[in-house]
Amino acid sequence: MPNMETLQELLVHELQDLYNAENQIMKALPKMARRATSTPLREAFEAHLAQTEMQAQRLERALTLLDAPVRGRHCDGMQGIIDEGKKLMEEDANEDVMDAGLIAAAQKVEHYEIASYGSVKAWAELLGHEEVTALLQETLSEEESADRKLSQLADSEVNSEAAMGAGEDDSDEDTGESNDVDEDSEERATPARRQRSQAARSRRSGTQG
Ligand SMILES: [Fe+2]
Repeated sequence: MPNMETLQELLVHELQDLYNAENQIMKALPKMARRATSTPLREAFEAHLAQTEMQAQRLERALTLLDAPVRGRHCDGMQGIIDEGKKLMEEDANEDVMDAGLIAAAQKVEHYEIASYGSVKAWAELLGHEEVTALLQETLSEEESADRKLSQLADSEVNSEAAMGAGEDDSDEDTGESNDVDEDSEERATPARRQRSQAARSRRSGTQG
């Protein structure tokens, strides 16, 4: 007999997968908030951390209502998305470009969650678990709203700053150094950008530590 014979068993399996995913996200979000330079972006990550804690609690409640063990099941999908985000955060990037990348990384997380919560909510509804359905719908709405908020931040501010940042830097950074580096303005600009990124990181850790 298969160990996943019923839709109810698949529902429990996926809820435990999501429970582990939410816990992985809880660990990743503070790191993303620290790496963000844009204040609205950092605040969006911090606000979503508080929501994520509630979402994990809703999953605990849902599993309890289904008489299933309240435990996680390692979510390889979320691990992969978060590992990619970690690699991005290790890059020595222009701070506006990093913010654009952080939004993309966070939206990958949101889209994974939207897909998963959409499925489990539909199964719970079909199986007549009204309270579980309501809990999952509440989280699904939060994930959709978090995704929209990230799109708004990208469209209204972050992407355009990332697009123009490097060009502006090159003209602003002309300090009248000798001409022998003119052929390679990229090499000249990159250390300057690095210094500014480091300064921004120090400022951030100063305000947060
Ligand atoms: Fe979530």
